[in-house]
Amino acid sequence: MKNFIEKFTEYFKTAPVAAAHAPGRLEVLGNHTDYNEGLVLSCAVGQKTRFAVTPAPDKSSCNVIDFRSGEVMSFSLEDMDNPPPANGAAYIIGMMNEMRKRGAVFTGFDAAVESDVPLSAGMSSSAALETAAGLALGKAFGFELSRAEWARAGQGVENNFLGLKSGLLDQFSSIFGQKDAIIMSDFRTIEVIDTLPLQPGYVFVVINSMKKHNLVDSDYNIRRENCESAAAKLAAVYPQVKTLRDVTPNMLEDAADKLSFMELSRARHVVNECFRVKQAAEILRAGDMEKFGQLLYDSHESSRVNFENSTPELDYLVEISRSIPGCIGARLSGGGFGGITIHLVRDSEAETYCQRVCAAYKAQTGIAAEHFICSIGSGAETVLFPV
Ligand code: GLA
Repeated sequence: MKNFIEKFTEYFKTAPVAAAHAPGRLEVLGNHTDYNEGLVLSCAVGQKTRFAVTPAPDKSSCNVIDFRSGEVMSFSLEDMDNPPPANGAAYIIGMMNEMRKRGAVFTGFDAAVESDVPLSAGMSSSAALETAAGLALGKAFGFELSRAEWARAGQGVENNFLGLKSGLLDQFSSIFGQKDAIIMSDFRTIEVIDTLPLQPGYVFVVINSMKKHNLVDSDYNIRRENCESAAAKLAAVYPQVKTLRDVTPNMLEDAADKLSFMELSRARHVVNECFRVKQAAEILRAGDMEKFGQLLYDSHESSRVNFENSTPELDYLVEISRSIPGCIGARLSGGGFGGITIHLVRDSEAETYCQRVCAAYKAQTGIAAEHFICSIGSGAETVLFPV
């Protein structure tokens, strides 16, 4: 943070009034369960987005310098309902709109952003930006929300401004992540219900298939509709069912004939993912890493067969992981339809493992995959500077 603040001060010739940093996240287990009010295991990563701001009360223009690209994003406070611009400003404007809906009042400002969260790598760089910008702007303009409501505001950017009907996982994990722990979140009550250790000696490795996942144009929203229509039909059989979260694997199979084949497949994925998350909590507490790794493989298989949000490239990355020493589990992570896989790997073998997977992937597809060995970082934080 210190370097970033120095850069800000040098660039704007004045110190920031407030700053915040927010990490990217990894979805560890619990795929497409969040918007079904289910359970997810996730963690914040060490990579963060930083945002610092100084209000300029006499201006109605907002200027944000991105230190990563050198790009200056400028927009006017009077002009924020237009279609989103095709750059990072979309997330900032979207967040300001969500904050305004909740009562925030802005003047113009000068701001800077810097991030080492990889872009388009399934680590939620967009949620990190929304969260960091929201928290810093909130602090600078004297506007507060509860931490869960900050996550909802970030989700609102995706839902209302960008057209993706995503759940709360990404922003929630960026805000509630805990250093060196996997958090287990309940997306009905919107809270962290457990924190679980990752046994020493293991790390999560991200391997990016480099096949872009543009979730807005993908089947993400359609999957969500399939889940909702499955839940509605199951509610006619089981009145206590509000979402797929309320359905057990047995209940689902008993009512299988009430659903279309597609609804049944999508529901099988979500219902069993929730069940796997519960199992994983016990397994992680017992420290049985091989068993935990197997759940990651099971999750991927269900994505491939039931939810159909995998791709040949993601399948290949998961398949190859079985034959390279060091790895005990792998799966696609996040929305799917491209994007990334996460691999649970012995840390002493992680670097060699990554080289070998990437070499195999290159030979198979011709694509040079990116890889990241991830540490588990802490959640978002805000800093207010004395004036
Ligand atoms: C994306 C969405 C999340 C979640 C995951 C799938 O990352 O933004 O809300 O639905 O996909 O689990």
